[in-house]
Amino acid sequence: MKVGIIGSGGREHAICKSLKKSQKINQIYCFPGNAGTEEIAKNVNLDLDNFEYLKNFIIEEKIDLIVIGPEKPLVNGLADYLEQFNIKVFGPNTVASQLEGSKIFTKQICEKYNIPTAKFGIFQNREDSKKFLKKTNFPTVIKADNLASGKGVYICSNEDEADIAIEEIFNGKFGEAKNLLIEEFLDGEEMSYFTINDGNNFKYFGSAQDHKRVMDGDKGKNTGGMGAYSPSRLMNEELENKIIDRIIKPTLKALTELGSEYKGFLYAGLMIVNNEPYLIEYNVRMGDPECQTILPKLKTDLLDIFLACCEKKLDKFEIKWSNKKSLCVVLCSNGYPDSFEKSVEIKNLEKIKLDKQEYIFHAGSLKKEGKTYAIGGRVLNFVALSDEFTNARQMIYKRLNELDWQGGFYRKDIGHKVIE
Ligand code: AMP
Ligand code: GLY
Repeated sequence: MKVGIIGSGGREHAICKSLKKSQKINQIYCFPGNAGTEEIAKNVNLDLDNFEYLKNFIIEEKIDLIVIGPEKPLVNGLADYLEQFNIKVFGPNTVASQLEGSKIFTKQICEKYNIPTAKFGIFQNREDSKKFLKKTNFPTVIKADNLASGKGVYICSNEDEADIAIEEIFNGKFGEAKNLLIEEFLDGEEMSYFTINDGNNFKYFGSAQDHKRVMDGDKGKNTGGMGAYSPSRLMNEELENKIIDRIIKPTLKALTELGSEYKGFLYAGLMIVNNEPYLIEYNVRMGDPECQTILPKLKTDLLDIFLACCEKKLDKFEIKWSNKKSLCVVLCSNGYPDSFEKSVEIKNLEKIKLDKQEYIFHAGSLKKEGKTYAIGGRVLNFVALSDEFTNARQMIYKRLNELDWQGGFYRKDIGHKVIE
């Protein structure tokens, strides 16, 4: 079979590496991929906004299955578009993708189906937003409704900070803003919970804790994710049952009642307060770096899982996991998440010899004339599996010391909540 993966991040390299193990696949294409995928797949650099061009390429190359990694093409309707031409796609349709594309869509589902989430209000202009804030308790949370890669969220401690957030959102910092959300601040611990869905059924696909802030001690700016560990320390059977019964199942029911369905990975970003789950947001994809952390634990053929989803046969399928602990540290270009220098060479990468339970996934990297260059903010993901998180992290830091890259940095405290 031939499989195509849309995306260029660490998540897509991890998916690519997992699929590569399948005996049934003889060619993988990555659109556009990175220096890591280039070694095991064919990278194809074409305009992903040009759906027709992409579709023609897929048909000409006779690609049997397309896996869509990131949210943007999903929200823009790529899955529906390709399916019109009888191309097999793993990823949710446009209606379902609004779970990530529109925070208001999700909040309205929460309201209708009693899904636990922060109390919220929707506001169409500066005046109403500011009037509401006069009678609000701080801290409070202000969010743009747009897809903003996690950046359109402000945790405001006072009215002055809230004013800045409102101005920036309505001035179009995250694109044209018709609405914003003001939300109750939930004081708990965050956890990512994943399911894989075939339109009728779903299965657990791992839990993790991400480290979103750029600096040690969870300080500094928000990023796409500086590292993660799996499983989350918060997971227990009682909590999982609550997540499934109160959050996942009602959401899938809502989509059915809208005449739609959910096929693909579903990522629930949760706040856990005293073992009670609250939905912060949905993402319609795997998390990054959670995916890099979780997929190495998968024991079942990933292609078989994707095909079972496309054939709506997931209920008859068993997904097997290693019960090892997994940890991922993300290496970033100096300056990230603000501006950073591009095209800095990463030396010694080829010299690193990984043991069986160790992985390096590329993200913002490019290979040119045998050399590897950092071209993005998040560049490499170092992952290790072990019986203990402490050991997994030691394995990673040992490998990181073997690398020679002056232009990069990483957090030294990933997993601090599970490591003394
Ligand atoms: P989001 O893009 O909605 O995931 O928000 C980004 C981050 O803001 C989350 O990962 C949380 O750390 C934080 N956040 C969002 N909503 C809330 C809330 N209601 N209470 C506390 N923290 C929040
Ligand atoms: N790790 C956060 C995300 O993928 O959105």
